[in-house]
Amino acid sequence: MRMYDLILKKREGGCLTESEINYIVKGYTQGSIPDYQMSAFLMAVYFKGLSDEETFALTKAMTESGEKLDLSCIPGVKADKHSTGGVGDKTTLVLAPMIASLGINIAKMSGRGLGNTGGTIDKLESFPGFNTSLTNEQFIENIKHIGIAVNGPTLSLAPADKKIYALRDVTATVENVSLIASSIMSKKLAAGADIIVLDVKSGSGAFMKNEHDALQLAHEMVKIGKASNKQTIAVISDMNQPLGHNIGNALEVVEAIETLKGKGPADLHNLCIALGTQILEAAGKASDAAQAKDMLESSLTNGTAYSKFKEFIKTQGGDISNIDNPMKLVNASYIEPVISNSEGYVESIECEQIGRASMILGAGRKDKDSPVDLSAGIVLHKKTGDFVNKNEEIATIYFNKKEVKNDVINIILNSYKIVDKKCEKPELIKQIIK
Ligand code: URA
Repeated sequence: MRMYDLILKKREGGCLTESEINYIVKGYTQGSIPDYQMSAFLMAVYFKGLSDEETFALTKAMTESGEKLDLSCIPGVKADKHSTGGVGDKTTLVLAPMIASLGINIAKMSGRGLGNTGGTIDKLESFPGFNTSLTNEQFIENIKHIGIAVNGPTLSLAPADKKIYALRDVTATVENVSLIASSIMSKKLAAGADIIVLDVKSGSGAFMKNEHDALQLAHEMVKIGKASNKQTIAVISDMNQPLGHNIGNALEVVEAIETLKGKGPADLHNLCIALGTQILEAAGKASDAAQAKDMLESSLTNGTAYSKFKEFIKTQGGDISNIDNPMKLVNASYIEPVISNSEGYVESIECEQIGRASMILGAGRKDKDSPVDLSAGIVLHKKTGDFVNKNEEIATIYFNKKEVKNDVINIILNSYKIVDKKCEKPELIKQIIK
């Protein structure tokens, strides 16, 4: 087999066999296929696409490229949840302890934030000492003992994806649904859970800017999951405005804790209930959605979800001395209001721009290696559909870099579209694909 011939075959719109795809993935991961040939191949895929069979073969080859976690020694069902990434998305921090408090194991691999979207691992590091590099043994032990573990990215799971994704990132070949689906699913399959619930974000603050693309990605991932004998469900949720009010690592932890205490914003609360319902039903813990919802709501009102969160943070080495007073985790030198210069209803918020403002404040990474300021971020006091008075504080910014203040205030003000006519709040859950 020659890489040249396989690039040509794809360029001409041909379908690659499983063994051809294995050859490419193995060759590139091991270094016998150079970056320039893999780049050409990825660009051919970008333009010609992959069939379902090719996408599945690619996912399988990337899953098999490294270690696969074997969670079979943990009694009971193991669930994992993945978000395609959004602004203010702190769902895992709420959902994982809710589910674990109801007796379903959560075995979750999470990532760091990049660009406008945050990562769970950075958020969890707001607790000093929190260990996001558990060994496989520690990961499994924690799940056995407390029903939950969340780990950072490891080099050993799906190393082919890591190498290919890095190349896609610099060759303008990220935005292909089959490549995204196989990349995400290879990591999820290597992580070993029985149930995979995917929160596919759709809107201006998400990877998938419209519902059509989000739906296509959801279908591809669900197909891959099912073909791999995993219960896989995708929920398509709105990301045309940030989720909740708080954006930025420690600020999101604060909002997650409020939500675990039953006092969180409606959109975050409802999304956690929707995702949790899918997990409870798939695990056979609830016979229908109504029962699942009752169980999930009870975990918040009776305090078991919040207790599980504390246990989880403590077990992974996090300092919980400020957990009941989490604003102490937000050590920003400057806190400034953002004042509205007009009056009316919020018709829309440019979600991507809010993510960018948060990144400029220091809460996100411009590139993979930049540091994050865990205390920086934004609290939005007004969301789509709300009424704003002139001179009212629509947002508050938290930061340590004095020089970015004016730029960020302008970005936030320009992100809000305020009109005279009353506006509807957007629908949060768009579709569920099973
Ligand atoms: N996230 C991933 O893990 N892979 C992609 O290709 C895109 C987003």
